[in-house]
Amino acid sequence: YKRITTKSLIEMKANGEKISMLTSYDFTMAKIVDSAGIDVILVGDSASNVMAGHETTLPITLDQMIYHASSVVRAASRALIVIDLPFGSYQSDPKEALRSSIRIMKESGAHAVKLEGGSEIKDSIKKILNAGIPVMGHLGLTPQSIYKFGTYTVRAKEDAEAEKLLEDAKLLEKLGCFALVLEKIPAKLAEKVAQSISIPVIGIGAGGGVDGQVLVIHDMLGMNNEFSPRFLRRYMNLYDDMTRAIGQYVTDVKSHDFPSEKEQY
Ligand code: KIV
Ligand code: NA
Repeated sequence: YKRITTKSLIEMKANGEKISMLTSYDFTMAKIVDSAGIDVILVGDSASNVMAGHETTLPITLDQMIYHASSVVRAASRALIVIDLPFGSYQSDPKEALRSSIRIMKESGAHAVKLEGGSEIKDSIKKILNAGIPVMGHLGLTPQSIYKFGTYTVRAKEDAEAEKLLEDAKLLEKLGCFALVLEKIPAKLAEKVAQSISIPVIGIGAGGGVDGQVLVIHDMLGMNNEFSPRFLRRYMNLYDDMTRAIGQYVTDVKSHDFPSEKEQY
């Protein structure tokens, strides 16, 4: 396979081809996701929830993100690999943002970084881009700001917030971001943003009028049966399948069925 690049994504948008993106946090999963033909793998800070069991994305560290990212990089030969800058690794000043991004690029081998926010972090985005590191934006519901929002409900339903979001999206394009994620905003607004800028807009809970879709892999595989937002389509029910398989293993061990004659030396 030819490697997907930031350029490929911009061409996909220009050609009207939708972009597929999923998260991965480890080697084995990333190998499957990459082989299945995904365009972009996001090593999301959702690893904080999905991998580590934290309630929010705030606790995950830069070192932990680099560990996840390097595992994914070793697995994927076709997908573009984007890494989230975790909370606390870029908010205090542009120099810190650049330092964190350089660490991610050097120590994981990933291809791009993603940061949450618009005009507030424009100097940081500029600094990272000036170093030659591609940046993906992230607007709408930005989970690192959950304690400011108070809830994980739909963002930008009011005009003022919708207007700022559209302005931020235009700013991210102007700064030189190669794409941006829009999370949990009204479909109409997301479509308007996608039509207003030439870089790809990848949505999660942002409707079908955008240029691509992203989901958390564990959610779309149905490994987590406690999380059922309306935007989530489950392609498997791995929670049930795995529970059944593991239960069968327990039964087989207890009943002396496993291992059989053929399963030993
Ligand atoms: O961390 C993550 O998984 C994300 C996606 C939901 C866009 O940022
Ligand atoms: Na994230």
